[in-house]
Amino acid sequence: MSGRRDSTSCARFVPLDVTDDESVTRTAEWIGAEYGVLDILVNNAGITRGDGGGRPSETTLGTLRAVYETNVFGVVAVTNAMLPLLRRAAAARIVNVSSEVGSIGSMTDPDGPLQMMCSVPYPSSKAALNMVTAMYAKELRDTPIKVNAANPGYCATDLNGRRGFRSPPQGAEVSVHLATLPEDGPTGTFWGHLWTADGDGGYGVLPW
Ligand SMILES: NC(=O)c1ccc[n+]([C@@H]2O[C@H](COP(=O)([O-])OP(=O)(O)OC[C@H]3O[C@@H](n4cnc5c(N)ncnc54)[C@H](OP(=O)(O)O)[C@@H]3O)[C@@H](O)[C@H]2O)c1
Repeated sequence: MSGRRDSTSCARFVPLDVTDDESVTRTAEWIGAEYGVLDILVNNAGITRGDGGGRPSETTLGTLRAVYETNVFGVVAVTNAMLPLLRRAAAARIVNVSSEVGSIGSMTDPDGPLQMMCSVPYPSSKAALNMVTAMYAKELRDTPIKVNAANPGYCATDLNGRRGFRSPPQGAEVSVHLATLPEDGPTGTFWGHLWTADGDGGYGVLPW
């Protein structure tokens, strides 16, 4: 495209606050002006917060709203802003970075490793994100765009005080996999590493 950059030339930094409508719009306009198209959208931004001991009965609506602003509403805002650009790509991919703690099946398994976790804001935001993922996949099923949710596994990042037992590059691999799916790859799935996964064990489609 004349006057536009070759999208393969280099990585470029664009400041984006997914909770700020103006920032989201500005970013979409910038990508449109610079590239005219978007091949891959990874909705990776995520936060976790808790009140008191973290129990549901101690949760404040302020905390709940803050977590949903980033983890759920931010994903919908960014995705809707980017969709016109994604539709211009030959085979766009959307990856929503979710978590196994958003899986109702995993969180309620009495014998599973997550049975000790009992909190509302972060887990319920990721459960909502899983449904958001499934609904976008449904709307876009007759297009080349694939929409999937990724579970990076428990990774050592700022989100958890670096306590995770997987490395950030290991966690990122799941998003890369879903962002580069071939034409016959899946859409509307929850994919990644189970909590206890070591190496390649427990890798694949996860329960919602
Ligand atoms: N670590 C794990 O074990 C784990 C497990 C499952 C899922 N996840 C998910 O993986 C994703 C990445 O998390 P992480 O583990 O890498 O945690 P992290 O180190 O805390 O990174 C979170 C990222 O989200 C960005 N962010 C937060 N609020 C934002 C906003 N309003 N607008 C734009 N960016 C925002 C942060 O940007 P700034 O640094 O600029 O604030 C940061 O880059 C999250 O969605 C998280 O829920 C993580």
